[in-house]
Amino acid sequence: MSRKILVTSALPYANGSIHLGHLVEYIQTDIWVRFQKMQKDTIVYYVCADDTHGTPIMLRAEKEGITPEALIDAVHKEHASDFKDFLVEFDNYYSTNSEENRALSCEIYQKLKVNGKIATKTIEQFYDPVKNMFLPDRFIKGECPKCHAKDQYGDACEVCGATYNPTELINAYSAVSGAAPVRKETEHFFFELGKCEKFLKDWTTGNLTDIPPLQPEAANKMQEWFASGLNDWDISRDAPYFGFEIPDAPGKYFYVWLDAPIGYMASFKKLCEMQGLDFDEYWAKDSKAELYHFIGKDILYFHALFWPATLEYSGYRTPTQIFAHGFLTVNGEKMSKSRGTFITARSYLDHIKNPEYLRYYYAAKLNGSMEDIDLNLEDFVARVNSDLVGKYINIASRTAGFITKQFGGELRWDSMKPLIDGALAQGLLIEESYRDRNYSKALRDIMEIADRINGEIAAKEPWNLAKDENKKAALHDICSAAMHGFYVVSILLQPVLPALVCRVARDLFGMKRDFQWDDLGVLPTSINAYQHLITRIDTKQIEAMTEANKENLQATATPQQHSEQRHAVHQQNEVHAEATEAEYISIDDFTKVDLRIAKIINAEHVEGADKLLKLTLDIGEEKPRQVFAGIKSAYDPETLKGRLTVMVANLVPRKMKFGMSEGMVLAASDEQGGPFILSPDSGAQPGMRVK
Ligand code: 2FM
Ligand code: ZN
Repeated sequence: MSRKILVTSALPYANGSIHLGHLVEYIQTDIWVRFQKMQKDTIVYYVCADDTHGTPIMLRAEKEGITPEALIDAVHKEHASDFKDFLVEFDNYYSTNSEENRALSCEIYQKLKVNGKIATKTIEQFYDPVKNMFLPDRFIKGECPKCHAKDQYGDACEVCGATYNPTELINAYSAVSGAAPVRKETEHFFFELGKCEKFLKDWTTGNLTDIPPLQPEAANKMQEWFASGLNDWDISRDAPYFGFEIPDAPGKYFYVWLDAPIGYMASFKKLCEMQGLDFDEYWAKDSKAELYHFIGKDILYFHALFWPATLEYSGYRTPTQIFAHGFLTVNGEKMSKSRGTFITARSYLDHIKNPEYLRYYYAAKLNGSMEDIDLNLEDFVARVNSDLVGKYINIASRTAGFITKQFGGELRWDSMKPLIDGALAQGLLIEESYRDRNYSKALRDIMEIADRINGEIAAKEPWNLAKDENKKAALHDICSAAMHGFYVVSILLQPVLPALVCRVARDLFGMKRDFQWDDLGVLPTSINAYQHLITRIDTKQIEAMTEANKENLQATATPQQHSEQRHAVHQQNEVHAEATEAEYISIDDFTKVDLRIAKIINAEHVEGADKLLKLTLDIGEEKPRQVFAGIKSAYDPETLKGRLTVMVANLVPRKMKFGMSEGMVLAASDEQGGPFILSPDSGAQPGMRVK
């Protein structure tokens, strides 16, 4: 009977681009999936989706003046093409905003309720009185209670690292409207995790299955969480919210983290519809299929506590194993916009072109643990050039030509049989390394085989043998051996370098399909002409990429995009972007500006000035203010006399050629027109403060 395997990677948020930090996980999973798909009697499906719900996505769409649906559609296209171009091959890439997900989320929630795991509680939350919405912690900002850094998020200080409740922030303000938040009561639904403790303890320790579902580091982390007690989990949010409305609870929505993992099921459900598969075979309680989730270590809590408990108490099977990986650093530091190392998937492709270089480098760093991995850009160039070009491709480029030109493409069995046999035996070890996600060991062992083959080539010097008619047999021998070695190494590298090895299989070895693992035991008897396969990376490409990313930051990103990238990044903690740009001013900053209603008591032309009018403004002070305003092109001074407008009253007075200017009148303008000075509604009086 075949093994049946369902694999997932974490669902990326639909509010930002895929970057090199994300790719660690998708590349890690894709390599594992491809390796499993090469095994006989193994059916593997790999599904994923965009994680589309929640406040950041709702607000970003609003800011861009589009519907959340339009936003997530556009991002879905972008993500899908990024993954495709990095050769991350999902069987289905879906969206959590799907009917399948809505139905499954509602059904699971109802079952949890029937099973007595949902409680209703009235809680107090921060509320934005201007936007009329409850504010998630990340949308409340203020001064850090510990180090007094300004403009810190409601859950943690990015300057001193302190964590706290939003209530502890000094001068808290809403990051959405700038208003001071108020506290307001609301009814929420909670998943009672505490009631699932016994099950979770058994599940975590592997008491329920033969295979421990977690890596040792993750299991330790769980023990810490058990020791500190399992809190009930708030699974509802109030309108306005972009998500699924909870059945029988108008105005209440499922929190994005409730429906996100259910999105794994929904994506698979869609695949079942498309391909006529049996959903229950993979998800029913008694399923014999295996279920693996690849995730970043920052979302372990959601996957190792909430998710198995959700599945268990809604009548579904639980995951076979959860594989967590570490974060990515670039050049030993957090990805940084100012250093140009916050690199999107697209930007990498634009500059480096070849996705397999990154796949290879990440694989060379990944060992199946939760340790962080570093992308050292200098080492990246050196490693790719030395291993892929200098070791792997070198085998074929130095020997294949002799086989096709001098021996009609025929390979012969050779004196290197022991070497090949050794390589095949090593193939078993390499298989184990792939299975354990210890790709760094797999690649070390593969490159060792390549080294041995290259060593033999160097020792036998086929280029010299070719000069001597009497040494034809020896030439045929070494080149055949080298090509057999190249064949073996290619099969072993296929999970990491699927496109390159596909060309090798088809063009060079004349295969009609990609390699299967079993092909290791069937050596080829002939080859086709060798064609150029890959080119070295030039350090200049790396420099251009980091430069371009520095520029991008200044040229294209809007403050809101920064804030949301940071937000997403913080939530998922996969990379920690540097936060150097101020996205908002605080309410304190705003109140520093003294805006007043001003009555224009006089307006006149200024001799010698092309653009200025001299205004005399009454702002309720004893002495009227004199202000030079650049509005001459739009106003006849006579029409301004007696009008009310708005001025900044506490600008430092400026000495101009025509006299002192004691403030500034506010006016709107852009390429289409203006200036248009502002007018208050009737009833406003000179001197009133605008706030
Ligand atoms: O942390 C994140 O990026 C989430 N979007 C991951 C969700 S994974 C799954 F649970 F849906
Ligand atoms: Zn602080």
